[in-house]
Amino acid sequence: MLELVNISKRFKQKYAVKSMNMLIERGEIVGLLGPNGAGKSTAISIMSSLVEPTEGDVYFKGQSILKKPESLRKVAGIVPQEIALYTDLTAEENLQFFGRIYHLKGAKLKERMDDVLETIGLTDRRKEVVKKFSGGMKRRLNIGVALLHEPELLIMDEPTVGIDAQSRNYILETVRRLNEEKNVTILYTSHYMEEVEYLCDRIYIMDQGNLIAAGTKEEIKRILSGEKTIVIKADRITESFINEFKTHPLINGMNVEEKQVSIMVAKEVNMFADIIKLADKASLELNSVNVKTPTLEDVFLHLTGRALRD
Ligand SMILES: Nc1ncnc2c1ncn2[C@@H]1O[C@H](COP(=O)(O)OP(=O)(O)OP(=O)(O)O)[C@@H](O)[C@H]1O
Ligand SMILES: [Mg+2]
Repeated sequence: MLELVNISKRFKQKYAVKSMNMLIERGEIVGLLGPNGAGKSTAISIMSSLVEPTEGDVYFKGQSILKKPESLRKVAGIVPQEIALYTDLTAEENLQFFGRIYHLKGAKLKERMDDVLETIGLTDRRKEVVKKFSGGMKRRLNIGVALLHEPELLIMDEPTVGIDAQSRNYILETVRRLNEEKNVTILYTSHYMEEVEYLCDRIYIMDQGNLIAAGTKEEIKRILSGEKTIVIKADRITESFINEFKTHPLINGMNVEEKQVSIMVAKEVNMFADIIKLADKASLELNSVNVKTPTLEDVFLHLTGRALRD
């Protein structure tokens, strides 16, 4: 349905996106993952024909969107990362305003507004001004705007950032339903591995403008099939303890959290004795040491040397 061929985008000397190839087939939910500044929003602006690439082209149903952007614009819904709503207007008035931009009017506009409000769960709040909405409600309405013209393709840029768990689940379920019941093809961008893991058939992972992995969840996890993750928990983790691991020759990746260190090693490596010894040396009392099979988060850590979230 949508294909990016060798897309690059340069701002002055710096590439925000470098030689990116991507394919979205009809009916799929494709995930695009990457940390801050990876180039996700830039890639989205290009594939939505809002920004021209420095190099490459995007094909929508086989046609260049650089040459013919209208065919895409008519049937694509874009959910921007920044909420784009008029906060002094009500939910209903916002939908009315954006509906007119899509050339909807009269009974058709009313029908689409009712349907969208139902889909995003804001039917009973339709007459309220948006500035009184919670973050999650604003996010939902932001999605609603993109659904007004019944898009075939929905491109979502981090639609769940900074909202409560309930709204987040609501959005995830809405995305699922749109895909299953209305056969909407979806590109879903996120910082959150678990969302992408839950929703997406295929995943692309970006970092610093480059695609660093692509494939089904299973394929991506297989990148690490020769590795295991060891999770070490303690009441406090000291600098000296971490430093010992940093220079350890058998450790291929490390992620430090408040009371936990995860390290990645080859499957056959036995680290238990070393961990206990190093904890002793750093006068650290361990709570637990567990081995687990790699998650997508671990793959990310392995590929980039850092965790998905800062
Ligand atoms: N208009 C612009 N002018 C100059 N540099 C830009 C512009 N837009 C983006 N960049 C740079 O391009 C890089 C990629 O930015 P982009 O917003 O695409 O990342 P992102 O993956 O969406 O990040 P986030 O998760 O924070 O939204 C960043 O280094 C950013 O500073
Ligand atoms: Mg972004």
